[in-house]
Amino acid sequence: MDTPRRQFLASLTLLGAGMGKAKAFAAAKPHHFSKYDPQVRRLLSQMTLDEKIGQMTQPDQQYLQNLDDLEKYHIGSLLSGGDSDPKSGNDLVSWTDLYDGYQARALKTRLRIPLVYGVDAVYGHNNVLGATIFPHNIGLGCTRDPKLVESAARVTSEEVRATGMNWAFSPCVTVPQDIRWGRTYEGFSESPDVVKILGPAAVHGLQRGSLDNPLAVLACVKHFAGDGGTTFGSGMPKSNNSPDRYPLDQGDTRVDEATMRLIHLAGYGPSIEMGAGSIMPSYNSWNGEKCSGSHKLLTDILKNGLGFEGFLISDYAAVNQLPGDYKQQIAQSINAGMDMVMVPEHYVEFFNNLKTLVDEGKVPLSRIDDAVSRILRVKFAMGLMNAAHSPLADRTLHKSFGSAEHRAVARQCVRQSMVVLKNDNHTLPISRAASRILVAGRSAHNIGNQCGGWTIRWQGQTGDVIEGTTVLAAIRKVVGQDRVTHAPDASGAAGVSVAVVVIGETPYAEFMGDRTDLHLAAEDIAAVDAAKSAGIPVVVVILSGRPVIIDKILPKADAIVAAFLPGTEGDGVADVLFGTYKPTGKLSYTWPSGDSTSFNRSDPGYKTLFKFGHGLTY
Ligand code: GLC
Repeated sequence: MDTPRRQFLASLTLLGAGMGKAKAFAAAKPHHFSKYDPQVRRLLSQMTLDEKIGQMTQPDQQYLQNLDDLEKYHIGSLLSGGDSDPKSGNDLVSWTDLYDGYQARALKTRLRIPLVYGVDAVYGHNNVLGATIFPHNIGLGCTRDPKLVESAARVTSEEVRATGMNWAFSPCVTVPQDIRWGRTYEGFSESPDVVKILGPAAVHGLQRGSLDNPLAVLACVKHFAGDGGTTFGSGMPKSNNSPDRYPLDQGDTRVDEATMRLIHLAGYGPSIEMGAGSIMPSYNSWNGEKCSGSHKLLTDILKNGLGFEGFLISDYAAVNQLPGDYKQQIAQSINAGMDMVMVPEHYVEFFNNLKTLVDEGKVPLSRIDDAVSRILRVKFAMGLMNAAHSPLADRTLHKSFGSAEHRAVARQCVRQSMVVLKNDNHTLPISRAASRILVAGRSAHNIGNQCGGWTIRWQGQTGDVIEGTTVLAAIRKVVGQDRVTHAPDASGAAGVSVAVVVIGETPYAEFMGDRTDLHLAAEDIAAVDAAKSAGIPVVVVILSGRPVIIDKILPKADAIVAAFLPGTEGDGVADVLFGTYKPTGKLSYTWPSGDSTSFNRSDPGYKTLFKFGHGLTY
């Protein structure tokens, strides 16, 4: 009989072939983490209740009151959330020293159980200066190429391990349905059929088929579940008890179970099959119940139904959003099936509350033992419990950090993620013999806009946030500095043979990216107008975290390329503009027209400008 795993892997191969990727997708042996239970049981039998609760407690390192608290509270994990950076700076050595400092202290505790240290390495090790930054998932979704996505994740895992860190809160397998959501770009696609292939590919790349590989990083599939399906207007309050809400983020996903399974759970089964060791329950609610406190979701559907044997890590202070006081919130979430809590600040209060709950019988010791067993299973699978393997950073990996080889992988990802929306009169590819090229637009020479949210800063940062190649620099490398005129406002267009106008969004992350208006900025429209008024062919390149309303520039642009958020390797954009790489990208989201009255693709008010799967080539 064909097992689900064989069916899944067969679908991967077919999809790979169907997408012109002849190579079958390498099958991974799924991690049945329960195979470590004999060792886990032996260790668990030696542990005190305090030591067990410490394994379930994850502070953010910036809130650790002192290093000895790692021993005092038997802490099993730390994270660096957004902007939780080394005090000495965001360089590679500072990050590595930060990690080694904590891990070395953890190894001095009674049981010497190493930390799992989590970071949001969601498209490269994006907290660290000099890292290779890949296209955000929305761009990778346009490649439809699981092998490429796996390669990107492999480079990411190597660069994460260069800092010693061993856990990435990635991949996000959200299936966004309303592009006004600030996290649309973290999703591969609006289509579950794309997400269920690319999500496990990213897991495979990060975990490298075997978690004890010294270059492997524990994946964390997120956010479970329905994060991309919230109802417009149901988003989180803008501040404590505020009547004002963000439109979508952390809102309420009002769908029946069949729809939840068909769309929003699509990436989880295949990722579990691929061996994902951790899953992050989501901030949002499902029909009014917070995911972080839902026994039906976390235990019935995920652990029992999908057979997940790893552990669940809460989102950042997500437990605090449950009803009741903190003690009641902890009880509900742990009893629902949460295994580790990203506290992240008041870890002493969390520790003491959970201990009291066990003493009072409100959280059964059996639930504690199950949670800790799941965490320890994964630590054994990671090789962390093998005294022969030091969990401290392997600094020989520093020499490949941000290397030309790594950047070449990212450049290929950029090439394949470009989607040519329009190309009248064969404007593209641009001739290398073009006499003079005007490069305009506020994002032409802006690596921060090119990378988007989560680069160095949680919210990202416009401007020179990280070293990389901007679109302008890439074009200059192709045709020579002296044949390129750079003017953000497109002035000085006289005498040029073609204009490339790079426009789009400025960086944002999470709820800060929720929008009600998706129109282009006036500055961007003005730059396209100015280029067009010069009477020359105009190529528009859009850097954005989602489809945006382009009706006003559509008739003025002879060619339009959706580049989404390509990351540091702008050469990949130039490769498509000049035809070094013939475009293969296909839209992973439907692209709306400006007369839409809704931007949720299942709403009747959604009007399509370019359909899902659209993409021209030369
Ligand atoms: C954030 C995000 C989640 C991230 C976590 C840690 O709020 O929701 O995706 O992994 O906190 O930074």
